[in-house]
Amino acid sequence: MQKSPAPRANWATRFGFILAAAGSAIGLGNIWKFPYIAGQHGGGAFVLVYLACITLVGIPIMMAELAIGRQGQRDAVGSFVALEGPGSPWCLVGWGSVIAAFILLSFYAVVAGWSFDYLLKAASGGLRNRSPGEIEALFDQLVASPGRVIFWQALFLTANVAIVLGGIRTGIERWSKILMPALFALLLLLFIQGMRSDGGGQALAFLFRPDFSRLTPRALLDALGHAFFTLSLGAGVMITYASYLEPEADIRALSLRIAVLDTVVALVAALTIFSVAFSANLEAGAGPGLVFKTLPILLLRLPFGSLLALLFFLLLAFAALSSSISMLEVVVAYLIDEKGWSRRLATILVGFAVFLLGLPSALSFSLWQDVRPFFGHTFFETFDALVSSWLLPLAGLFVALYVGWFWGSKRPNKTLPGGSLQGGLSAGWQLLLRFVAPAAVILILLNQLGLLPSG
Ligand code: PHE
Repeated sequence: MQKSPAPRANWATRFGFILAAAGSAIGLGNIWKFPYIAGQHGGGAFVLVYLACITLVGIPIMMAELAIGRQGQRDAVGSFVALEGPGSPWCLVGWGSVIAAFILLSFYAVVAGWSFDYLLKAASGGLRNRSPGEIEALFDQLVASPGRVIFWQALFLTANVAIVLGGIRTGIERWSKILMPALFALLLLLFIQGMRSDGGGQALAFLFRPDFSRLTPRALLDALGHAFFTLSLGAGVMITYASYLEPEADIRALSLRIAVLDTVVALVAALTIFSVAFSANLEAGAGPGLVFKTLPILLLRLPFGSLLALLFFLLLAFAALSSSISMLEVVVAYLIDEKGWSRRLATILVGFAVFLLGLPSALSFSLWQDVRPFFGHTFFETFDALVSSWLLPLAGLFVALYVGWFWGSKRPNKTLPGGSLQGGLSAGWQLLLRFVAPAAVILILLNQLGLLPSG
């Protein structure tokens, strides 16, 4: 067993933990990805399926991750070691999560870097007085400039390192208390502007009036996969963050709050973006370019357009930063807890290693556009698929199986599940964790293997 030289870090307040965990959950997934996949799948019916996935699969797995960290009181690998002993195969789940966080951060930083570039463009008036065609071309120019992309990626990672160097209370928690309220305020402002535009009513109808004829099996699987990604599951984040909680923390209440905040932000972001899109008579199914190509054009048409564009990219950058620091912390916590490294050394070295690993992704749209290491996919696409389609769902599956079946059977009266102790899982959540969540994840995985008929 590892000896811990100093008392372990912890959150200053419960509220600080919620903001940090919600900060991890609320990210590019909510503001960039959710609106465009909801748009592609036709809105309302997809939103219902997504809400079902969050509730039936996402929240139970989040409870399980929080339980592991709260109980283990160590990083994502160490918590399994603390619970099951060093040689246990369950430790592989922790390993998979740490690797997922590391790879995820490498390409997440590239996309986050794009938002920094747009922030600068919006602030310096670089978006003004341009035709829609010119604005669209800006995105292609940006991703095709290796130097610029790498510069922003490096700057973004430097910001991450600076925050995580500060530790839990004075780094992550303090910054979450700044970034998250700012993010909520920015989103609210943009939302009000969006709702006041002509497209507000149409956006509401699009997202909340389900048209089940548009629902395909593919939509179901996308909703399920996205539920993992958006709640930061399977990457060790919730385990690591919960390890800085006191053992009495009520994980049921905490996970509900985190999930509700994440869902509300995703819905409000989608409403905002669609109201702007509809006010310009645009289609909702614009795809991944929605936020970087379509949205700036539309925002600039509104009164105070340049200011709104600036606020929007600030929102995107804040959301990305509060998520990426959680990925960095997963790897840093592992090196501190398991290898005895200092936070300083761990943070700086991991930051640099992530930068190097991210270079192939940064170049995937320019110099290495034609380097296709895996089934015709670029590095960026390969890393994204490896993490989002495989590592996160697999780790989530084993977390569900572990807490749902294994943990309880070994320690019937001790903690989870059982529901008798504070923070235990009640029968309903337990049922979801044991049966529904694993079945759903197996469905995603089978589909990825091409073993299900796809819609
Ligand atoms: N939840 C984050 C988002 O929506 C992404 C993320 C995934 C963060 C896994 C940490 C771990 O952007």
